[in-house]
Amino acid sequence: MALFLTFEGLDGSGKSTHLRRAAEWLRAQGERVETTREPGGTPLGDSIRQVFLDPKWGEIDGRVEALMVFASRRQHLLERIEPALAAGSHVFCDRFTDSSLAYQGHGRSLGADWILKLDQLATGGRRPDKTLLFDLPPDIAQGRGQKKDRSKGPPDRLDVEGLAFYTRVRGAFLHLAEQDSERFVVVDSSGEATATWAQVEGILRELFPTPESGGRSVGP
Ligand code: TYD
Repeated sequence: MALFLTFEGLDGSGKSTHLRRAAEWLRAQGERVETTREPGGTPLGDSIRQVFLDPKWGEIDGRVEALMVFASRRQHLLERIEPALAAGSHVFCDRFTDSSLAYQGHGRSLGADWILKLDQLATGGRRPDKTLLFDLPPDIAQGRGQKKDRSKGPPDRLDVEGLAFYTRVRGAFLHLAEQDSERFVVVDSSGEATATWAQVEGILRELFPTPESGGRSVGP
């Protein structure tokens, strides 16, 4: 059965890099994998993403932020995620509803109930089969993010948030993981990339066992 996996964590947690490596790893086992991200993943979603991240809007009301990411998410589910799964391809998605619970629900202090109501309307409460949460202290994540941003261009609208915001977001992610320990696996991403990859590869081997319980490593 095709699995829907999401990769969550703070900006600078290494989730996007490990998502790409995880997809390569699974493709090397002969499986089909689609990689995608939120907000985005469709032409409409990518346009919403541009608006969402554009620093020129400054602070946007938290509910407006949530409405934007769920608009992108509904289109993404209908146009891309569900069709890919139905066609037998695994889907690895960089962020999903847990990000809205963490960033808008707690970062922007909207509360989980408001997000969960919107989630029911937009997705019917759709949840991934498995979620890898890349966890690390927010000050380390911010340091890594800033290094990346200098090479990538100016910071986006959420990059400029302070440590207090990211501390709330991290706490919310960890709380979600505690509440749903069947779906979540917490990956300690505070160390070297090789140490993080070793954890991810272990999770992949459990989720996608091969006949020799092996498979070729394509890690760093
Ligand atoms: P991401 O692609 O991880 O950003 P980056 O390219 O900087 O690594 O995510 C984009 C931003 O959108 C990130 O700061 C988190 C935010 N976001 C929300 O606030 N709510 C959401 O529901 C989603 C999916 C993302």
